[in-house]
Amino acid sequence: MSVRTGPDTVDLADPALLRDPHGAFARMRERAPLVRAVLPDAGTPVWLATRYDDVRTVLGDTRFVNDPAHVPGTDVSGIRERLIRARGIPPEYARYLLDGILDADGDDHLRLRRLVSRAFTARRVAELRPRVEEITEGLLDRLAAAAEDGVADLMEHLAYPLPITVICELVGVPEPDRPRWREWGRTLFSMRPVEMGAVVRDMVEHIQELIARRRAAPADDLLTALIRVHDSEDGRLSDTELVTMVLTLVVAGHETTAHLIGNGTAALLAHPDQLALLRREPELMPRAVGELMRWCGPVLMARMRYAAEDVELAGVPVRRGEAVMAVLAAADRDPREFGEPDRLDITRETDGRRERHVGFGHGLHYCLGAALARQEGEVALAALLRRFPGLALAVAPEELERERQQLPGMWRLARLPLR
Ligand code: HEM
Repeated sequence: MSVRTGPDTVDLADPALLRDPHGAFARMRERAPLVRAVLPDAGTPVWLATRYDDVRTVLGDTRFVNDPAHVPGTDVSGIRERLIRARGIPPEYARYLLDGILDADGDDHLRLRRLVSRAFTARRVAELRPRVEEITEGLLDRLAAAAEDGVADLMEHLAYPLPITVICELVGVPEPDRPRWREWGRTLFSMRPVEMGAVVRDMVEHIQELIARRRAAPADDLLTALIRVHDSEDGRLSDTELVTMVLTLVVAGHETTAHLIGNGTAALLAHPDQLALLRREPELMPRAVGELMRWCGPVLMARMRYAAEDVELAGVPVRRGEAVMAVLAAADRDPREFGEPDRLDITRETDGRRERHVGFGHGLHYCLGAALARQEGEVALAALLRRFPGLALAVAPEELERERQQLPGMWRLARLPLR
């Protein structure tokens, strides 16, 4: 069963929406609690939930599942396959995109999450901090050296390479292979079907080769630990799941964090009072990163969820099998939850243990790498502000907005030229 569409159905590929998603989502949020929409590829109809409480319900209530195969009695299992096909992924590679933690529910999800969660706890992440700082300083040295007429692209020299280096060191992707991951990540998020199919094949083959190499020469990294689990008798991790886990961690670990650093830097430079405050009171940094996640978080929408039974959401009947997308960016600017939601205020308490923003999601699938991403954001921004007291945009703000990549679901800058 799919969501009924009508004349008020939102097209998520509408250029006006892609140009100003925050504005478009705000209008939907005030229009109705649930809005009908169609996804650009495959034209799949979905409900969009835009209000804070409803977004938390969709992500936190186990009557909504991530794998449509878990919807009893209705045949919605073809939906994901259709999406994968629309993106040009060869059928024999589709399982590598479907057998991951993000698409798992219940016990399978718990099993996959437990295998990796220990590597991303607050304590483990805190231990990584000196290394994250060291990588950042090295990158900023190179950024300064690469600047032409005092101008350099932050995305190229810091925002991308920092999270790629960190997640690849953690997982165990050797240095010479990292530039390829950068390219693959870029293509995966470009949503251009022809290239996406080839990239998924290359990534899977590369990971399989990496697994063979690590099996022969174990190291102190997450990949070696996962191979050990896979090779042990108890069948806790299948062949496909092992490959998919590596793919998910490396892609999710950098394509998002890069844009927290990029969007966050651009937002601070566009708000000189907040930037000056942060320079004066650097101890505000953790709160500032929380607020930047709320105000300009890179992930606009969570993964699709499916109603496993008939559910009433915000008074609207959502029928079994219907798809719902939680619009994180709309929830994070919902005046029902945040005072003056459109104002960037780095003193706002949105971070820490009782975080109110939903930029990292909510519920069982809450971002595994949230502590790591926050730390990378804090370290990168702190080092940038400390080392470059006169930091400024090298292009007009309107021109910068043209560097926004028009992708449904993501809020990203392709380039961020700084002086
Ligand atoms: C899940 C955002 C960084 C790994 C998620 C979700 C969001 C998110 C919104 C939930 C999706 C959903 O429920 O549909 C972000 C943002 C990041 C970031 C905004 C950076 C600013 C990272 C990093 C890693 C990572 C550094 C590296 C390990 C994951 C994984 C999941 C996830 C594995 C799936 C968790 C599960 O299904 O149980 N992330 N993420 N993320 N994230 Fe992140």
